[in-house]
Amino acid sequence: MTPRLDGLAALEGRGELGYSPPVRYYLETFGCQMNVHDSDRMEEVLHAHGWQNTPTPDEAELVIFNTCSVREKAEQKLRSEVGKLAPLKAARPALVIVVAGCVAQQEGERLLKQIRHLDLVIGPDNIPELPKLVTSQLGGSPKTARTEFDLVETHFLASSPQGGKTPVSAMVTTMKGCDERCSFCVVPYTRGPERYRPVDEIIADIARWVEAGSREVLLLGQTVDSYRDSSLPSPNTGDPDESQFPFLLKRIAKEIPTLARLRYTSPHPRHATPSLARTHAELDVLAHHVHLPVQSGSDRILKRMIRRYTREEFVERARRLLAARPDMTMSTDIIVGFPGETDDDFEATLSLVREVGFTALFGFKYSPRPHTPAKKLADDVPEVVKAERLARLFAVIEEQGATHLQSLVGTSQEVLVEGASKMSRAEMGLRRVQGRTVRNEIVHIEVPREAHVEGQLLNVDVVRANKHSLEGQIERENLARFRRASQSESPRRALPIFAS
Ligand code: SAH
Ligand code: F3S
Repeated sequence: MTPRLDGLAALEGRGELGYSPPVRYYLETFGCQMNVHDSDRMEEVLHAHGWQNTPTPDEAELVIFNTCSVREKAEQKLRSEVGKLAPLKAARPALVIVVAGCVAQQEGERLLKQIRHLDLVIGPDNIPELPKLVTSQLGGSPKTARTEFDLVETHFLASSPQGGKTPVSAMVTTMKGCDERCSFCVVPYTRGPERYRPVDEIIADIARWVEAGSREVLLLGQTVDSYRDSSLPSPNTGDPDESQFPFLLKRIAKEIPTLARLRYTSPHPRHATPSLARTHAELDVLAHHVHLPVQSGSDRILKRMIRRYTREEFVERARRLLAARPDMTMSTDIIVGFPGETDDDFEATLSLVREVGFTALFGFKYSPRPHTPAKKLADDVPEVVKAERLARLFAVIEEQGATHLQSLVGTSQEVLVEGASKMSRAEMGLRRVQGRTVRNEIVHIEVPREAHVEGQLLNVDVVRANKHSLEGQIERENLARFRRASQSESPRRALPIFAS
């Protein structure tokens, strides 16, 4: 284990800390997968110093909120959660309260003035400094905001899988920041310019997870398919939107042959080139699913959003990817009520959703964000109209999603089991686990209580479709095999659930 921080040890030695070590921390995460990933790295940094987590703020010396500012609602929620801690801080002034992540980066010092009981504000690129900064706070230093991007020497925190906590599906980051300037989006401001993680580091991270027991990897990046690394071959297709992402995928497939599944999020449609589609056809490890955010189906709105593709171009790229495998599916992100969006623009979005045949989507009401070009446009679509459009969008996707799930009833699917699902039927010696198909549909399965199936690929008969998931049964021969195996084997520790 890494030695405890010198500063902390010194303070402890002088009896100047208002608590008994080790530091206990409470961490709450808001927002996207990137934030979940950052929180995991934060925990690893804290554990490396011997600090321990607690399930509630009440027993903690340190409370950290890892925050999201992509929509106003997320930011408000954070402010209300931090607000709730005011009485605790009043009762225990030595408690250190930290806001990390995108709200921290966006607001910086201002946040310290706005929330009086806050001690530390720390941006996404400053996570490695967290223990040092907290130690200073515990020693009575003045409130601090640290929000520097690591532009000169970019550093990616390597994963360090913790014993007994390895997820079946691990997240691995490939890049920081975003160079697109979608007019509605605060991310380029909160996450900075694009910086790519060297391919060897990515491979080493994946190898560590696989060694620790993970079976699937989800590559993360704001525009994950814009990936570049000078050690990879040059694409040489003459297409300026061509990136080296397909080469990254191929290197991973070749160098980590024991990886069961590989997914990535989120690609920008601009880089969804023919070579990416060909890579999907070539690599068996790639999921038969792509999440390709479109945002709108209207050319007029796409232009105002500065998405840098037309509806026609999007449809062409989506079709090419969908054609890569016979069972390929696609999901997307859509914003309704962007400034100036008319009924006709919205109808164009609905028709695009039908035309592409997405099986799922994340839909959002437009929310004006600070530092974004669209903030200068009047937020002129009334709230009720935004709500109505979102409801209509959801009705369309619910129907498409349900039709798709229904089409899988009666088929056999290979399911990667992630962990226990809610209900257990102990009385019948069965428990429910959940996993995902190669396209990412959730499948609930009943397995013998003693069978240790977490992290395994099971052949499952789909017997029923729920609203957002499937019900499956293990094929008969496999069930008999599990029963025999569990009678002869001593139980192994099951892996924890990996939340979707
Ligand atoms: N490229 C990123 C996108 C981050 S934001 C990724 O990897 O996911 C995630 C989604 O939030 C966007 O695709 C968009 O649909 C939505 N979003 C972003 N800014 C928004 C805003 N100002 N109002 C409403 N939705 C927004
Ligand atoms: Fe945001 Fe567009 Fe980048 S949605 S993260 S600016 S690709």
